[in-house]
Amino acid sequence: MNPLHVASISSEMVPLAKTGGLGDVCGALPIALDALGCRCSCFLPAYRSVLKSGLVLEPTNHTFTIHIADRYVACRLLKTRLPNSQVDVYLIDQPQYFDRDGFYSDQSGEYRDNCERFAFFCRAVIEAIDQLELDIDIVHCHDWQTGLVPAYLRTRFGGYAWMDRAKSILTIHNLAYQGRFWHLDMHLTGMDWQYFNWEQMEFHGELNLMKTGIVFADTVTTVSPTYASEITTPEHGCGLETILAGRGEHLLGIVNGVDYAHWNPSTDVHLPRQYSWQDWQAGKAECKAALQTELNLPLQAGVPLIGIVSRLADQKGWDLIIPLLLHWAHSHDVQWAILGTGDPELEAQLRNLAQHHPHRVSASLEFSEGLAHRIEAASDMFLMPSRYEPCGLNQLYSLKYGSVPVVHATGGLNDTVVDTTDETLADGTASGFCFAGYSVANLEETLHRALDFYLHRREHWAQIVNAGMRSDWSWNKSAQRYMEVFHQTLSVEA
Ligand code: ADP
Ligand code: GLC
Repeated sequence: MNPLHVASISSEMVPLAKTGGLGDVCGALPIALDALGCRCSCFLPAYRSVLKSGLVLEPTNHTFTIHIADRYVACRLLKTRLPNSQVDVYLIDQPQYFDRDGFYSDQSGEYRDNCERFAFFCRAVIEAIDQLELDIDIVHCHDWQTGLVPAYLRTRFGGYAWMDRAKSILTIHNLAYQGRFWHLDMHLTGMDWQYFNWEQMEFHGELNLMKTGIVFADTVTTVSPTYASEITTPEHGCGLETILAGRGEHLLGIVNGVDYAHWNPSTDVHLPRQYSWQDWQAGKAECKAALQTELNLPLQAGVPLIGIVSRLADQKGWDLIIPLLLHWAHSHDVQWAILGTGDPELEAQLRNLAQHHPHRVSASLEFSEGLAHRIEAASDMFLMPSRYEPCGLNQLYSLKYGSVPVVHATGGLNDTVVDTTDETLADGTASGFCFAGYSVANLEETLHRALDFYLHRREHWAQIVNAGMRSDWSWNKSAQRYMEVFHQTLSVEA
């Protein structure tokens, strides 16, 4: 029997294009699937970051033209390999759409032609699969940018022969971003207007590409079991809860894995000193001192250091963090190492806090892969009080780096961090500190609980650090789960 052949279609993929966890997952999962004997071919726009990545981009013989609205838009297909792997990546090279500063936006905001850009991307990918004669079994789509592909497959758009056999999976990484556009953008999709109805592509009078994917995909997955159930409720469903609940057993959650080739303190090239669960005390102490020096924080070994690496977006709990910081920066002998970019107003607030409390608060308002690794290694605790969190990768990294996660018990945070209680200490599973009930008071109480362990219950603290560092969130288990889902999806008759 031939191995399964999966086309992974996404708008981000490390090391070529990343704004957040989507990039990490779409770069790592294909390699993990490949290790399980599943062939993966990936598709990504040839953004400026890709063209400048330094990876060898080979031309292919394939150039084609897509008829989009009243235009004929040409593109060519480039090819590369994910480093240290067998995984082919095909790049849709259309400079007017993709050779820009950002992936989705620039300083002036979201690109106004995002619907056209990603409708084009989806159309180009299905054409490319045909021209390359890839014999695809599963198209695995990620988030709204690829939501049209399941619709094209289900409606046999373009009449491609390969569509008769292939099945589609949509993975939702974040339901809050849905790709909503005014109704007249429907003509950019090429889909018949009959599909513009409330059960398919329309949502409150607009075109909704996430909804389109959810409705037409054979299977819908999201990135943790808790989030899979949360999004069927009005609180987290972002208006799509009824549609999602309607997918029944065809909606399920698979927790993301970690690429330990990149996120492992014992091999991490970004650290001043590497360490493992056996020598973390000395290793982390050295990393902490180095980071305090790097960030101009006072060199104080005994003062707890709390790390945050996060997009500056509403999702991540900044409306709890900022009030807490405003208070704690005066009152608590704790250092904060914060790395993030995003909302300009939050950036200004953090800049302000760091200026007024340079001995306690460091705010690096940039995107820095190296600093993200060094904060994970140096900090004693890692704070992630997200309002909602589909999966979250940083808490998984912090477990591995011995930076004890303090989290709001939601989505993937709930599925991956075990709160410290008498019971979980006794059975050895305690790996962090969780709070239910999204409020500053609950966050503060939980941080106090964590600090109490850190300052006064050192043996238990060491146990918690060890449990996290030795837990295994590698991709292997999750990739096997995806394989099961691929097979189940293929076995269901159309
Ligand atoms: P999300 O995808 O919602 O942003 P995740 O926790 O899944 O959240 O993934 C975030 C990823 O982005 C992690 O790999 C994290 O290290 C990285 N990241 C976020 N902000 C920055 C930043 N300012 N600099 C470097 N890496 C960042
Ligand atoms: C999204 C989510 C995050 C998840 C990531 C990768 O960006 O916000 O929770 O870890 O996708 O799936």
